[in-house]
Amino acid sequence: MGLAAGLDKNGAAIDGFAQLGFGFVEIGTVTPRAQPGNPKPRIFRLPQAEAIINRMGFNNLGVDNLIERVRAARYQGVLGINIGKNFDTPVERAVDDYLICLDKVYNHASYITVNVSSPNTPGLRSLQFGDSLKQLLDALAVRREELALSHGKRVPVAIKIAPDMTDEETALVASALLESGMDAVIATNTTLGREGVEGLEHGNEAGGLSGAPVREKSTHTVKVLAGELAGRMPIIAAGGITEGRHAAEKIAAGASLVQIYSGFIYKGPALIRESVDAIAAMPGR
Ligand SMILES: Cc1cc2nc3c(=O)[nH]c(=O)nc-3n(C[C@H](O)[C@H](O)[C@H](O)COP(=O)(O)O)c2cc1C
Repeated sequence: MGLAAGLDKNGAAIDGFAQLGFGFVEIGTVTPRAQPGNPKPRIFRLPQAEAIINRMGFNNLGVDNLIERVRAARYQGVLGINIGKNFDTPVERAVDDYLICLDKVYNHASYITVNVSSPNTPGLRSLQFGDSLKQLLDALAVRREELALSHGKRVPVAIKIAPDMTDEETALVASALLESGMDAVIATNTTLGREGVEGLEHGNEAGGLSGAPVREKSTHTVKVLAGELAGRMPIIAAGGITEGRHAAEKIAAGASLVQIYSGFIYKGPALIRESVDAIAAMPGR
């Protein structure tokens, strides 16, 4: 049970989150340069739906600051660093931003997540498709080999995807990830859909919807990935885990690890233990 990206964007509270009981902690999304993100208000609770809508827009202090915070942390456990692009980097130059971040965080991360699925940076999600995806994955694969040689260690790279793809698109992502030698996939980020929050206060705010309303979509994405990947690549599941049994459902769908964000906001750290217990109680474990 891990902390999903976006809660500790700057790595400011790594030790605190680790002490709450998370088995792994993912920090970021971090971008090459500091940026303020979108104007406030930009995050909304929809408590009746156990949901959140956010359009934060990668507010963060930049990758150099994040590395300082990682250096200062005492945490020795599994640390993921989630990387993205600055909002003012044209999407055609997005690869440059990912490579800048990859270079800088390589030596400080247990694994690195490439976020191509935030809905709040214009054009970002286009990197999940077709030639854009292939070009990005190829560039990452080449640079990762160079970094593995120069640092004498191979740091796993995960790609984080959206829940809003067709099954066909998800399957194409899976085969592209296998082909390029990526190490893991994180499914999923927030959704652009609004099913489950219609008519609620803030239900029409722009941004990504997370929490209970994204659960089924995310689990479906995990199932499609699991079918395509057939055990060749681990899946990290996130999306709508608000009770322990939802974590077990993700594992049953084919995930190897799970993460929480919105459920943690509503339920607090008790959800970590509840999820671990529910997974441990699964038949055959
Ligand atoms: C306020 C907020 C900010 C987020 N920021 C990021 C982010 O910076 N990078 C990222 O990859 N995912 C981000 N996410 C997505 C979460 O990591 C997670 O994938 C998604 O919310 C689904 O899980 P959940 O239903 O448990 O919240 C954010 C989610 C929320 C609610």
